[in-house]
Amino acid sequence: MSTATPKIAPSILAADFSRLGEEVRAVEMAGADLIHVDVMDGRFVPNLTLGPLVVEAIRPLTRLELDVHLMIVEPWTLLQAFAAAGANSLTVHVEACPDLAGTISRIHALGCRAGVAINPPTPVDALAGRLDGVDRVLVMSVHPGFGGQSFMPDVLDKVRRVVEWRARDGFDFDVEIDGGIKRSTAPAAVAAGCQVLVAGTAIFGQPDYTAAVADLRAAAAARTT
Ligand code: DX5
Ligand code: ZN
Repeated sequence: MSTATPKIAPSILAADFSRLGEEVRAVEMAGADLIHVDVMDGRFVPNLTLGPLVVEAIRPLTRLELDVHLMIVEPWTLLQAFAAAGANSLTVHVEACPDLAGTISRIHALGCRAGVAINPPTPVDALAGRLDGVDRVLVMSVHPGFGGQSFMPDVLDKVRRVVEWRARDGFDFDVEIDGGIKRSTAPAAVAAGCQVLVAGTAIFGQPDYTAAVADLRAAAAARTT
């Protein structure tokens, strides 16, 4: 798994919301591998974005995986709504989930892939012994809440640790990194073991999405070949 070409996941947080459908179609045409959807509730993070209605609206526009990142308190209360809206994967924050195993089971019961995200200040040990059955570990490389922030390289130690645990314990999750990913930061993330690169401004902030996806893929692949 770790030698496969990393996947590129444009974050629609940086898209033009007045033309969201066109933007989703455009990044699929540009070669994106999945669509990253940032859900913020104004409580877990100091920003407010979108809910299941928006996921439902973009669902028919793309065949790509809708990778829903729930930056919300009590995420278990909205899992069913996002699954019904057409999410393929639901990622909850370890900081928001006292019963992580129960939440992961609930996501699977709804027919979705289950992810767990970890914020920069949270020690990786918060995930120790809690990754059984997890399909995705999302390592935040900025403080969640806003796009366009600078990548925090220290979080790559966490990536290396969960990759070690995956090999040691025979787990099968992919590792996704989110925040400040661009051509200059992608190689280090891939070298540390990330398989999925979320990128908001590095794609939607560029005039040519095809070139932006290709540039990011080339920067990532340069490390893996
Ligand atoms: C931040 C979000 C990210 C954000 C990334 O809270 O989880 O997905 O959109 O944006 P960039 O790539 O601009 O750092
Ligand atoms: Zn995100």
